[in-house]
Amino acid sequence: MHRLSVESLSVAADDVCSDSDQAPARFSTVCILPAQTPLRGRIRLPGDKSVSIRRALLTLFSDDEAALDNFGSGEDCLTALYCLEQLGKTVERESNRVIIGGKFHRQQATLDCRNSGTAARLLMGILSGFEGEWILTGDSSLSSRPMERIAAPLREMGAIIKLSDGRLPAKILGGKLRSIRYESAVASAQLKSAVLLAGLGGGVEVQYREPFFSRTHTERLLELETDSKGWIQLDQNAEAPSSAALSGGISGDPSSATFWGVAAALIPDSELILEGVLTDPVRCGWIDVLQASGVDIRVENESQVCSESVGDVVCKSSSLTPIKISQEMIPRVIDEIPILSIAATQARGCSRMRRLAELRVKESDRLAQIEKHLSGMNATVEIGQDELSIAGPVELCGAVINPERDHRIAMAFAIAGLIAKGNTKIHQAECAAVSYQEFWKDLSELSPGSLQYEN
Ligand code: S3P
Repeated sequence: MHRLSVESLSVAADDVCSDSDQAPARFSTVCILPAQTPLRGRIRLPGDKSVSIRRALLTLFSDDEAALDNFGSGEDCLTALYCLEQLGKTVERESNRVIIGGKFHRQQATLDCRNSGTAARLLMGILSGFEGEWILTGDSSLSSRPMERIAAPLREMGAIIKLSDGRLPAKILGGKLRSIRYESAVASAQLKSAVLLAGLGGGVEVQYREPFFSRTHTERLLELETDSKGWIQLDQNAEAPSSAALSGGISGDPSSATFWGVAAALIPDSELILEGVLTDPVRCGWIDVLQASGVDIRVENESQVCSESVGDVVCKSSSLTPIKISQEMIPRVIDEIPILSIAATQARGCSRMRRLAELRVKESDRLAQIEKHLSGMNATVEIGQDELSIAGPVELCGAVINPERDHRIAMAFAIAGLIAKGNTKIHQAECAAVSYQEFWKDLSELSPGSLQYEN
């Protein structure tokens, strides 16, 4: 399986950009030049990462073949497939179609979840419900992220889970579970899914509630009900989705679409159509937030694909008022905060976002990274323990960005580079492939002349 792992090359800030816009086989630093032309046209995004990983992992509950189209091309999605193979399943990939068959027949495996928090946490839940002994590992970023929040309810259900100082590597002894009624202190779709999927595999009842609704893909796939008080109910005889229900097309990833939505809003005279994007209410918070701050953005041609809504998002350049995000909205835009903070630098007035504590435990401490890099680009930005304020509008200056291997930071600051004065270097640029393999290619097509690769 193809996986990029390229060490960062250190390049001085004032190095002259090379003039190659062709991706070399191995690259680590890219140079972003200000956009010379408006962004216009249509783009189709790869399949949503959360849905791709869930539909793939749910094949563990069935021996029939499932065919998933427009499967996410990012490394995290490929990691989920790799873990399935380690558990005995067969995986065939032809372009963006993935066929998963075979039996989950192993009772022991060590699974390297690489950078994927979703794969690690969902697998921790799923494997807790199966008899066997499992070890989950991850790369240095994933191994620094909190896992105790997942292990605690699973232990309450009867799984034996040993962590290393609250983090990966984890050893899981799965098997007989008992039912649980669990009220989570944190709105996290990964945590919620882990507990629900443990209940599914273990054949026990689960009642689960979270303070605000996080993404609901697992509940939709399992056709679960949520009562008026917010309790999600999984019965002890709940059935896993059939292979037929897991098969079919996966809508475009809204978290990837947001980069282009914001770029179109900020670059004068732009108009982009982002085709076939997942517009499920818990994932289209970015559209609501941009609309509320005056962006000309709308959804057209909405339909239902595999019980999730999908549509074409049309976004035009606009002048922005400050970005405001309520506490309830945070789980709906949690992955989009880095790119929304770039939009905030161009809004007339002060954008304030609160309750961002979860940003500190993502692939990197995203709150600290936003502050560091935006300050370096001349923005007026302040952070607190869990809040962010950005005063705009400001002319951003090119800078050198070391994203600490965080894909969303690398991509957000590449978009910042398109509107900045001067050139912006992004080190470790290959990390964008964690969620969006085609990002640099798409950027060079949408903004010709803005991308130069450095070997
Ligand atoms: C995800 C949930 C979110 C999100 C992550 C994907 C998922 O994390 O940040 O990129 O697929 O369930 P949390 O649930 O931990 O907030």
